[in-house]
Amino acid sequence: MNFASDNVYGVDQAIMDAMVKANTGTSASYAYDDITTRVESQFNEVFEREVKVFLMTTGTAANSLALSTMAPPFGAIFCHAYSHINADECGAPEFYTGGAKMFGLDGVAGKISPQMIRDSLNGFIRGEHDPKAAAISITQSSELGTVYSLDEIAAFGDLAREKNLKLHMDGARFANALVSLGCSPAEMTWKRGVDALSFGATKNGAMGVEAVVFFDLNLAKDFEYRRMRGGHLLSKNRYLAAQMEAYLTNDLWLNNARHANDMAKRLADGLSSVEGMHLGVEQQANEVFVIMPKAKHDALEKTDAVFHQWLASGSDTAPVGPDEIMIRLVTSFLTTIEDVDGFIALAAG
Ligand SMILES: Cc1ncc(COP(=O)(O)O)c(C=O)c1O
Repeated sequence: MNFASDNVYGVDQAIMDAMVKANTGTSASYAYDDITTRVESQFNEVFEREVKVFLMTTGTAANSLALSTMAPPFGAIFCHAYSHINADECGAPEFYTGGAKMFGLDGVAGKISPQMIRDSLNGFIRGEHDPKAAAISITQSSELGTVYSLDEIAAFGDLAREKNLKLHMDGARFANALVSLGCSPAEMTWKRGVDALSFGATKNGAMGVEAVVFFDLNLAKDFEYRRMRGGHLLSKNRYLAAQMEAYLTNDLWLNNARHANDMAKRLADGLSSVEGMHLGVEQQANEVFVIMPKAKHDALEKTDAVFHQWLASGSDTAPVGPDEIMIRLVTSFLTTIEDVDGFIALAAG
């Protein structure tokens, strides 16, 4: 049973079948193929308006290239201190923006608030001696598996308009957040002021495809050059497009995310009823953070269950005592009830 991440699992069979189907004959290269054209229409339908969409292979590339359209080299980007863009991308956003400064804010439960950004902006009083405030980036669902409500997203949108900032959403786990809220993709994005979205698929069943989706179409201007220059335009783009087409067909993406979230809920409910264990963060999508006695953690580590210890700063999750350890468990579209119940039984044993 492997709860290390959602990307330890393989590829959804429907997506693999679509790639095999695409693997016949010849096709125009560099995203001029028919499947890519169809995927562009699919995104317009999914978001109920015209969007500009660009496929690429990693979420890091999607985030960094999207942010490069929003922040100049002398710009500031506000995000959570633990956000993937700030903590896990080896400076790629700084690289692609040509040096924009990330302002990592210490929000509770993986989320930041507009007030935190206002407070930060209050320190921008020295003109060009500070970087130019340029963009906000929120992660939906967040790095701690929590989900911004529609009102919370709208408040970021309002702040962005008021301060002339752009609003980016890192949606590596977009589908998990969407089914958690039970709203439409449009409601969770451009209707609340999001300008550009990194739309993830890899963690939820694809082999390796992500998309940058622009709602502010001006930001998409010349984006094909950014993607090419960044080395993220695939010559055989049809295989990326085939993955995305299958992902968005017959609600595969939503069904996969729903399953992953359901498994996470089952895990969270089961583990929080085990004596000595409690959740570090409320479970809202497909990640579960559990605080447990160190002895219990050490015993679980000796089993064949795979998971990661998660270090907390002390203010962002429920407190972790000196004899306690917090672990992260991530569920996926392929996580089984047997694995979930098996892990709960191990934890209770
Ligand atoms: C919140 C978040 N954003 C983006 C990514 C994309 O990462 P990658 O570049 O590995 O596809 C991840 C992957 O862990 C993530 O958790």
